[in-house]
Amino acid sequence: MVDERIAIYPGSFDPLTLGHDDIVRRSLRLVDRVLVAIAATATHDKSATCPLERRVEITREVYADEPRVEVVSFNGLLVDFARESGARLIVRGLRAVSDFEYEFQMALMNRSLWPEIEVIFMAPSNQYTFLSSSLVREVARLGGDVSSFVPAAVLRELVKVYGDAVAGG
Ligand code: PNS
Repeated sequence: MVDERIAIYPGSFDPLTLGHDDIVRRSLRLVDRVLVAIAATATHDKSATCPLERRVEITREVYADEPRVEVVSFNGLLVDFARESGARLIVRGLRAVSDFEYEFQMALMNRSLWPEIEVIFMAPSNQYTFLSSSLVREVARLGGDVSSFVPAAVLRELVKVYGDAVAGG
């Protein structure tokens, strides 16, 4: 497609939550394609609980029926990956003021590294403003029901790892 608008939605997605999914679907209203880009290196040192390749597989399952969403992993700098992918737009979700400082710093650093990149922040649906991957991981690890916080493919994986209780069973 000529002049196709591509947005990158980068993150750790460990795991992808319904809050992330909400941002992906909102982004699809603005652009032709969304690249969900799962980073091998996260800025805040987080030890991933799920291997990168598995996160890619599960997230691909989530978007199996959405041809305008592509799920990829990337190494190195996000802006380098964006340039190689033909994307000039980075999308990030902002849940609360507490997210702002970290997001603003990253946005300005990314733009210093590559002035042609634009970063937009999107507000998720109200019902997801409290959601985070780390809370979902913790609740699942402790056997709580996370079925209303993650897409079905992610829930299936969490059931495999933590047992039926995470699906409310
Ligand atoms: O979901 P997260 O963990 O908050 O996402 C952070 C992420 C992956 C977007 C950020 O750490 C990132 O862009 N990592 C790639 C390496 C990079 O470009 N670092 C410089 C960022 S200013």
